[in-house]
Amino acid sequence: MPNTPTDLTNKNLIAWVEDIAALCQPADIHWCDGSQEEYDRLCLSLVNDGVFIPLNADKRPNSFLCRSDPKDVARAEDRTFICSAEEKDAGPTNNWRNPEIMKQQMTGLFEGSMRGRTLYVIPFSMGPLGSDIAQIGVQISDSPYVVVNMRIMARIGSAVLDVLGDGEYIKCLHSVGYPLSEGQADVAWPCDVDNRYIVHFPDDKNIWSYGSGYGGNALLGKKCVALRIASSMARDEGWLAEHMLIVGIESPEGKTTYIAGAFPSACGKTNLAMLISPEGYEGWKIKTVGDDIAWIKPGDDGRLYAINPEAGFFGVAPGTSMQSNPSAMASMQENTIFTNVALTDDGDVWWEDMTDELPEHLIDWQGNDWTPGCGNLAAHPNARFTAPASQCPSIDPEWENPKGVPIDAFIFGGRLSNIFPLVYQSFDWQHGVYMAATVGSEATAAADNQVGIRRDPMAMLPFCGYNMGDYWQHWLGMEGKVKHLPKIFRVNWFRKDEDGKFLWPGFGQNMRVLQWISESIQGEAGAEETVFGMSPRYENLNWTGLDYSSEKFAELMALEKEASVKEVESQSVMFDELGDALPKAMIVQRDKALDRLG
Ligand code: GTP
Ligand code: SPV
Ligand code: MN
Repeated sequence: MPNTPTDLTNKNLIAWVEDIAALCQPADIHWCDGSQEEYDRLCLSLVNDGVFIPLNADKRPNSFLCRSDPKDVARAEDRTFICSAEEKDAGPTNNWRNPEIMKQQMTGLFEGSMRGRTLYVIPFSMGPLGSDIAQIGVQISDSPYVVVNMRIMARIGSAVLDVLGDGEYIKCLHSVGYPLSEGQADVAWPCDVDNRYIVHFPDDKNIWSYGSGYGGNALLGKKCVALRIASSMARDEGWLAEHMLIVGIESPEGKTTYIAGAFPSACGKTNLAMLISPEGYEGWKIKTVGDDIAWIKPGDDGRLYAINPEAGFFGVAPGTSMQSNPSAMASMQENTIFTNVALTDDGDVWWEDMTDELPEHLIDWQGNDWTPGCGNLAAHPNARFTAPASQCPSIDPEWENPKGVPIDAFIFGGRLSNIFPLVYQSFDWQHGVYMAATVGSEATAAADNQVGIRRDPMAMLPFCGYNMGDYWQHWLGMEGKVKHLPKIFRVNWFRKDEDGKFLWPGFGQNMRVLQWISESIQGEAGAEETVFGMSPRYENLNWTGLDYSSEKFAELMALEKEASVKEVESQSVMFDELGDALPKAMIVQRDKALDRLG
C-alpha cells in the first residue's frame, strides 16, 4: 500500500506520481523518507533477494557488493538524447529526437514496465538542502539499488519534501524495463539493454530513463539533472553547471585558494580532488569539496562561487590504491556500495592495481572463479564505489556551505599521450575558453563504444544539455558579466615518452603543479611566454623531495611543432560541425594559435 506522506500538499507531485503509477502499473508504491532505517531495510532485502552480497563486517562494515548485467556496465552515450523543441538547440554533438514523438514512443516502453515491482518515489536535493544554488528533483524508480545509491549520492527523503513545499521540481522517471508477470522469478540485475533510452526534455525539465540500472544512466540526479538539465538552466539564468572537481589548495601559511577542474570521465578528477602531497614535500594541502560536478554562480562581490551538488562519490574503483589515492580508500572503508568489483575469499573487495600482490583466488565481477594469470579481469574497468563524501578524510569543512566556495581558477585536462605539456596558463579569458573548448582525450571505460581520441570540450561532450556552440558562447559571455573572473589553465598528466612511459609521475606529485597554479593566481609565480600560453620554467616549480631533471622537464614541456599544427588544424572538424553556432572568437583564437606556431 502506498505510504504517501500524510502532510503532503504538493498537488502537482501527487498527481504526477498517480499518473506514472497508472502508466507503469507497479505492484506497490513506496515514498522514500531517506532514513537510515529505510536504507538498512532496503539493503537487507537486496541481500535476501541475492542482489547484494554483504561484505565482511570486520573489514568493510555495512558495505555491499553488487554485480550488474555484463552488458549494462557504463553510460550509454548512443542511447542518450536531448529532446529540445528544435534540433538546432540540441546541436550536432547531441542525439536529438522530436520531443512529442519521443514521448509517445517511450510511453509505450513505460506502459506496464513496473509490473510486479515497487515504484519508489525519491525526492532529492542536488546541493545542500535549502541552498540558493541547490535544485530539487523527484525521481520515480523501480530499482531499490537506485534508491540506496541515491541516498549516498544526494540528499533524499522527507526533509526534501519539506523544503519543496508546493514548489516546482525536476521530474525524473526511471524504470529498469523488466516487468515481472505473476510468479515470474526476478534476476539479480534487471534491465532491458537493447532498448535503453536516457532522454532529456530540457524545455519542461523532464528526464525519462528506461532500460538501464547503471550509474549515470539510472542515478538521475547526477549526469541527467546536475549536468544536462542544469547546464541548460544555467545558460538561461547566467551560471555554470560543469563536469568539474572542486578543491581548496592550502598553502603552508594556511591560505586557501579554491579551484575547479574539468577532466573527461575516468581521467583523474577523483584522484586530484583528494590529492595528498608526496613525502618530502609536505606543507601544501588539498581540501576536497567535490570530485565530479560543480555548480558555479556569480556572487554579490563579483566573484564566482561553487557548490558540489552531490553528497557522495561514485568513483572508479580499478587503479585506486593506498598509493594512488589513500583518501578514496578511507572514504570507502564502510557504508559503501561496490558495483562490479571482485570478491575476496575473506569477504572483502579487490580490483586491478589495488595491491601490488595479486590475491591467490577471487570471484570476479561476473561471479566466476578468478586466479592470477587466468586471463580475465577481476573487476570491470568501469567498476565503481558509492561512498558518502563525509567519510573522506580530506573533506573541506566548507564543503556543505550553502553559499559555495569562491573559485579563483579553472583547470582543464584530458588524457593525451603527446603534444600537450604539463601545464600552462591562458593569456586571457577568451584564450582560456578556447583552450577549454578544444580539450581532447583518449578513450576510457566510462562510456560504451568509445575509441581513439575525441574532442571533449570542457569535459562536457556527453553532458552538455544544449548546443555546444551556444555553450561556448555562454562561457565567452561570462567576461563582462563577472567582475573577478577565475584564471584558466590547461594541464596534462598523461604525456608519454618514446617508449610509451608516462613522462610525469602524476598523482601526489601533481601538487607541485597546483602550487604553481596557486602562486600564479596570487601573482607570485614565475613563468615564460610560450606558443601554448604562460608556462613555468624548470626553476619556477618547487622540486623539493623529487629527483626530476631539467632535461626530463624539457621533454615534458617540449613543443612538437608539426604535430601541434596538425592538432590545431584538426580542431576545424568540430568547429565546422557547429556551423552557425560557432562563436567567431574561436576562429580568432585558432588563427592566433597557428600564428604563434609560425
Ligand atoms: P569520472 O568519475 O568517470 O568522471 O572520472 P574521474 O575523472 O573522477 O576519474 P578517476 O579519478 O577515477 O580517474 C582514474 C584514472 O585516472 C585511473 O586510470 C588513474 O590511473 C588515472 N590517473 C589519475 N591521476 C593520474 C595521474 O596523475 N597520472 C596518471 N598517469 N594517471 C592518473
Ligand atoms: C562519468 O562517466 O563521468 C561518471 C560516472 O562520473 S557516471 O555517473 O556513470 O556517469
Ligand atoms: Mn564524471
